[in-house]
Amino acid sequence: MKNLLITGGCGFIGTNFIRYLLKDTRFRGRVINVDKLTYAGNPENLLDIEKRFKKRYRFIRADICNRKLMDSIFNEFEIDSVCHFAAETHVDRSIYSSSSFIRTNVMGTHVLLELTRKYSDRIELFHHISTDEVYGSLGEQGSFSEASPYRPNNPYSATKAASDHLVRAYHRTYGIPVTISNCSNNYGPYQFPEKFIPLMILNVLEEKPLPIYGDGKHIRDWLYVTDHCRAVWSIMNSGRIGETYTIGGGAEIQNLTLAEMICNLVDRIKGRKNKSKRLITFVKDRPGHDRRYSMDFSKIRRELGWKPSEDIESGLNKTIRWYMENMEWVNRVRKGQYRKWIRLHYSERLKQRG
Ligand code: NAD
Ligand code: TYD
Repeated sequence: MKNLLITGGCGFIGTNFIRYLLKDTRFRGRVINVDKLTYAGNPENLLDIEKRFKKRYRFIRADICNRKLMDSIFNEFEIDSVCHFAAETHVDRSIYSSSSFIRTNVMGTHVLLELTRKYSDRIELFHHISTDEVYGSLGEQGSFSEASPYRPNNPYSATKAASDHLVRAYHRTYGIPVTISNCSNNYGPYQFPEKFIPLMILNVLEEKPLPIYGDGKHIRDWLYVTDHCRAVWSIMNSGRIGETYTIGGGAEIQNLTLAEMICNLVDRIKGRKNKSKRLITFVKDRPGHDRRYSMDFSKIRRELGWKPSEDIESGLNKTIRWYMENMEWVNRVRKGQYRKWIRLHYSERLKQRG
C-alpha cells in the first residue's frame, strides 16, 4: 500500500482513521483523502496532519460519483489500495429524503469498484466500510455475525446493504481483491452532533432537552472509534481477501440508560449533583426503528487477535472531555463556518479537475 485512497476522510470515522494511520502505525505510504465535503465533512479536522505530513497526506475535494474526476485521481496518484468510508450516514435524514443516499452509497461505490476494476493490475485491496444495520433488528437474544442474513429496515441501511452486495459481487465476478467490515455504532471525537452520543453530551452541557425516541429501550452495541480504526487497519493488513468481518464494542446498552450515564458523567465532571436527568424527554419514535443490535466479533478476534480496548465508561469519559475541550469545533461545525475556510485555503484545489 504505497498510495492509499481514503474516501470520506473528512467525516467522523475517516478523520479518526487518517489520524490513527499516520500517527500510530508503521504505514509509510501516502494517503490521498477524497471527500466531497457535505455538511458532515470538515477538512479542518486534519489541518495539523496536513502540516505535519506534507509529503504523505493529500486532500482532494471530489465527489466519488464523478467518474471522470475519480478516474483522473486513480491515474495521477497511482492508487494501489482503497479504504472506502464515504457515505451519507444519518438514518433520520434517509427517512426524510433518500436520493443522496442512493446516489453516494450505491452509485458512488459502483464508480469506485469500476475504477478498481479498470486499474486492477496495480490494485492490492479495496476495503469497504459498512454497518451492522444491514442485518436488520434483533430480538432479546443472539448477535449478528458474518453469517447473518441481510434484512435492512430503513433507506440508509438498504443502501449500505446494496453497496456490500456490489463489493462482494465485484470480487466474485471480476476477482477484485476486497475485504468488508460491518461494525456497530461508533462514538468518539469529531462525530457530527446529529448522532445520539454527541447530541446527548452537548445537550446536557447546554442544559437542553435530551430527545429519546419511543420508550428508549432500543439497544445499540457501542464501539469506540479508535478501536474501530485499529480493527479496520488489522483487516487491511492481515484479513483474508473476499471475507467479511463483523466488529462490535461488546457494549450493549439501552438508549435511555446511555443518556442517564451521560447525565451522571457530565454532572460528575462539572461537579454538579444529579442535575441533568430531568432534561430527558421522550419523543415520537423513529419509523422502522430497529430494536436491538449486537455484534459477534469472534471471527476477527480469532483470526486477527482484535478486541475492543475501551469499555463504555472509559470511552464516554474520553468523548465527553473531548467535546468539552472542543466547543469551538462544535460551534463552527454547527454553523458550517469552515466553509469559508475551505474557500480560502483550498481555492486552488477546489477547482474541479478533469
Ligand atoms: P460521516 O457522515 O461523519 O462522514 C461521511 C463523509 O463522507 C463526510 O466527510 C462526507 O463529506 C463524505 N461524503 C459523503 N458523500 C460523499 C461523496 N459523494 N463523495 C465523497 N465524499 C462524500 O460518516 P461516518 O460516521 O464517519 O461513517 C463513515 C463510514 O462508516 C460510512 O460508510 C458509514 O456507513 C460507516 N459506519 C458508520 C458507523 C457510525 O456509527 N458512525 C457505524 C457503522 C458503519
Ligand atoms: P443514531 O446515532 O442516529 O444511530 P443509528 O440510528 O445509526 O443507530 O441513533 C442511535 C440510537 O439513538 C437509535 O436507537 C436512535 C436513538 N436516538 C434517540 O433516541 N434520539 C435522538 O435524538 C437520536 C439522534 C437517536
